[in-house]
Amino acid sequence: IAPILRSLAELRDETAPWQRAGERIGVVPTMGALHDGHLSLVEAAKRDCDRVIVTIFVNPLQFNNPDDLENYPRTEHEDAHKLERFDVDVIYVPGGDQMYPAEFATAVIVSGLSQPMEGVFRPGHFEGVATVVAKLFLQTSATDAYFGEKDFQQLQIVRRMARDLDIPITVHGCPTIREIDGLAMSSRNLLLSDRARVKAPALNEEMERIAGELAKGAAFSDLQADAIRRIENAGFTNVEYLEVRANDTLEELDKPTRPARLLAAAWLAGVRLIDNISVRD
Ligand code: PAJ
Repeated sequence: IAPILRSLAELRDETAPWQRAGERIGVVPTMGALHDGHLSLVEAAKRDCDRVIVTIFVNPLQFNNPDDLENYPRTEHEDAHKLERFDVDVIYVPGGDQMYPAEFATAVIVSGLSQPMEGVFRPGHFEGVATVVAKLFLQTSATDAYFGEKDFQQLQIVRRMARDLDIPITVHGCPTIREIDGLAMSSRNLLLSDRARVKAPALNEEMERIAGELAKGAAFSDLQADAIRRIENAGFTNVEYLEVRANDTLEELDKPTRPARLLAAAWLAGVRLIDNISVRD
């Protein structure tokens, strides 16, 4: 059973011999409430690495809404139990003071990539993400990090941040794990009522339909308004964005003339859901 370490000093004691031995160290950063999406990242890390560290930290810096931070599910005991069968080496659950001591004053800002989509609707969110992920990379001294495509914009921002700051780590993007009805797994799905849960797959269904139209050569500008209406008719209250963007630069595209994703955020019964799918590999 993996030890749960709560301080940076303990973490460094544990990892120092691994570093000296030149071992490959994988880190899987999470905010807990672990589901099969998170566990698929742990599995990938176990496959590649000599050592695996799972971090669980509900990062206050990345919550632009205090209620969201308050309501975020916290299930540490169950999380540790779920990790048992993966035989990870350390579960790192830093206290708030380990991450952000009183005089903490530094932020990591990835301009450009942080601006559109989530950047519009969650101001400051990616600054919080980039800052905590940079710290986790440096604290764990991992050689490899595992992130989900579920949060595609985050994945691209983390990649750019590691490159720009010369942090010697390979960032791996792993496919989105879905429920059988297509709903992307998310800790926030726990907040959906039974009634809302039934409606939730409509977002992914509509996105898949659009992907099909794009594959047939349609222009997204001819599909977007109708698609948003259909998602709202299925019970979503507000589609914040539904866009086609280039994988690497996140520039908006009307046709997927290069590797691209269709990305969306929408509210369902007070819960904000995001999803994205490839429209060209
Ligand atoms: P969290 O939402 O807990 O997600 C942790 C990791 O799991 C992220 O890389 C996310 O993309 C991945 N993930 C979530 N749902 C997934 C799914 N259905 N399939 C595959 N991967 C999935 O993302 C965060 O936490 C935080 O922003 C964090 C990076 C930990 C920084 O605080």
